[in-house]
Amino acid sequence: MQFFVDTADVSEIKSLAETGMLDGVTTNPSLIMKAGRPMAEVIAEIADIVDGPVSAEVTATEKDQMIAEGKKLAAIAPNIAVKLPLTWDGLKACRALTGDGHMVNVTLCFSAAQALLAAKAGATFISPFIGRLDDIGLDGMKLIEDIRAIYDNYEDLRTAILAASIRTVNHVQQAAIAGSDVATVPPGVLSKLIEHPLTDKGLDQFLSDWAKTGQSIL
Ligand code: E4P
Repeated sequence: MQFFVDTADVSEIKSLAETGMLDGVTTNPSLIMKAGRPMAEVIAEIADIVDGPVSAEVTATEKDQMIAEGKKLAAIAPNIAVKLPLTWDGLKACRALTGDGHMVNVTLCFSAAQALLAAKAGATFISPFIGRLDDIGLDGMKLIEDIRAIYDNYEDLRTAILAASIRTVNHVQQAAIAGSDVATVPPGVLSKLIEHPLTDKGLDQFLSDWAKTGQSIL
């Protein structure tokens, strides 16, 4: 499973890239707003730090304008994935942009039927939003399971499942069990993936016992 980080904060991306665990980055207009800097500048910096796909979202809603924005974003760096919303115009733009050889991440997916359409439109990634479904009392993880089952039924559907709107470590674990290809994770949750109190307790015990031996390995 690949890990993308869901942020436009360049310093957080730099620090996570140092772990060697970061395979890509996703951004959206809300995250660009939080970054408080020009989008093209931020995306170019991120694409320079990370070798893998960096999603940059269009804000047009009409197909031709989406394609024009998508091409402009894709021109920033070779590893840009153009992010398009799951609308009919978005799917038409998806077909055109992937046909031109660009990576496309179709976002705001809340049903398996939508994911099927995105795959038929040739999307590189589909982004089902787990947390936002949980927020309204539905089961976000069931959506990942359903999309996995559907995509596995048809060899010609090669879209990667990118579990999005992740809120917890458990979301990451469950998305991996469900067979999601990628999880895009907020920086805080990504850092927490390593945590377990028994790891800390066990290490403390080992180090204290080792100190009692008076030995040194080097
Ligand atoms: C996905 O690409 C989105 O940027 C993101 O995962 C949305 O997450 P949120 O529901 O926490 O805003």
